[in-house]
Amino acid sequence: MTRKVRSVYCCAECGHQHPKWVGRCDGCGAWNSVTEEPVAPPEETHRRRSLAPSLPSAAPRRLVDVETPTLTRWDTGLEEFDFVLGGGIVPGSLILIGGEPGIGKSTLLLQAAARLHGRGRTVLYASGEESPEQLQLRAARLEEETADVHVIGETRLEAVCHSAAALEAQVLIIDSIQTVYTDALESAPGSVGQVRESAATLMRFAKDSGTAVLVVGHVTKGGGIAGPKTLEHIVDTVLYFEGEPALDYRLLRATKNRFGSVDELGVFAMTDHGLHPVPNPSAIFLAARAVGSPGSAVTALMEGTRPVLVEVQALAAPSGYGTPQRVATGLDPRRLAVLLAVLERRTTSPFADKDVFVQVSAGVRVTEPAADLAVAAALLSSLHNRPTPADGLFVGEVGLGGEVRPIGGLDRRLAEAARLGFHKVFGSGRTATRIPGVELVGLDHVDRVVQNLAA
Ligand code: TYD
Ligand code: MG
Repeated sequence: MTRKVRSVYCCAECGHQHPKWVGRCDGCGAWNSVTEEPVAPPEETHRRRSLAPSLPSAAPRRLVDVETPTLTRWDTGLEEFDFVLGGGIVPGSLILIGGEPGIGKSTLLLQAAARLHGRGRTVLYASGEESPEQLQLRAARLEEETADVHVIGETRLEAVCHSAAALEAQVLIIDSIQTVYTDALESAPGSVGQVRESAATLMRFAKDSGTAVLVVGHVTKGGGIAGPKTLEHIVDTVLYFEGEPALDYRLLRATKNRFGSVDELGVFAMTDHGLHPVPNPSAIFLAARAVGSPGSAVTALMEGTRPVLVEVQALAAPSGYGTPQRVATGLDPRRLAVLLAVLERRTTSPFADKDVFVQVSAGVRVTEPAADLAVAAALLSSLHNRPTPADGLFVGEVGLGGEVRPIGGLDRRLAEAARLGFHKVFGSGRTATRIPGVELVGLDHVDRVVQNLAA
């Protein structure tokens, strides 16, 4: 049995310490900011302090003398997963996979576990959410060789780490961080202090043993991974698994990666037999597009290094009430407000008395200004009831004066457009491109879009 360590209750806002939990910090008055944290026993603190000056320290070296480490990576063979990770799982790393309940995190990890096992890795899947029997039921649905994956239904973190060490597991999967708890703290599993302390323990375990640890984290309503934001600082890699549960595909994104680039996008389709990587996401995002109907425009976004084509849909309808509604899905509502104001003032197309609804296809979230022109084109297309050209693509930022501005990464976006049959690209007249098969139509002002709509 592990000895209980003493704990204090620390305010996350000001650091004030309390001997017991309080709802409101005595120091700064913040509500609900106090979490349990372990403190090292006094003798240990003392030992550390007295030893510190005599610790042998590594001699400083010039960077040129530091050997380049050879980074080993274990590929799972689940292409999109490996791609988002930056080429595979790095031994000794701690990877957090966040997402809403039911999105497919457990499915993804069980598939990854099966593939890793198939590649000669020893994998332990520790599940606190589901019993081994439930895991078996899930495994039976998958078209994967899951028979030899080791599973354990355990929520005590120390016991899980002990089992992983005994098994000499190279990959440890924890499903989920909110259900495990460490004996070091008395607070309940899932509490902020437990989540943080468990993550720290797993990080030490990963680094000491060289085991790659993959941890599932549930996402709260606010969109953050439940527990403190600090969890994201502790781990090496943060992946988010998202998508509309009603639709069949899921997007995997890296938002932090110490061993690869961030903002890479991996796309999976959820089938009756688990998740299948989708190598050509643009085709899926455009699959439901109604060519020739007004209120739709296609744009090319950069998702990390990869261009993807998505459809922006808009509907402008006469408003029945005093204040017209403005609803944006997959797009920042403030960005929509700015674009509407620009169209109102800089063009002859009135939106003031219209309800406006804008959505981006396939649950994709648009954050790039490069999509401005497509949003404007979809709005104008709906207002005038004239479709955008079937093979037309809109890329460009719209300034407050209504001017169309050039954007970065144009060549890569256009290459993807050409591949999918979009041969007419509307964008800033100040960009030149050399992509064969693509005609660039320069628009200096957003008002010019209207002339280019079909009759
Ligand atoms: P799950 O992996 O349990 O989600 P999470 O761990 O993120 O909570 O996924 C659950 C959903 O996926 C559930 O609604 C059923 C569906 N599903 C399939 O459609 N096909 C499958 O092969 C599997 C295993 C699950
Ligand atoms: Mg699950």
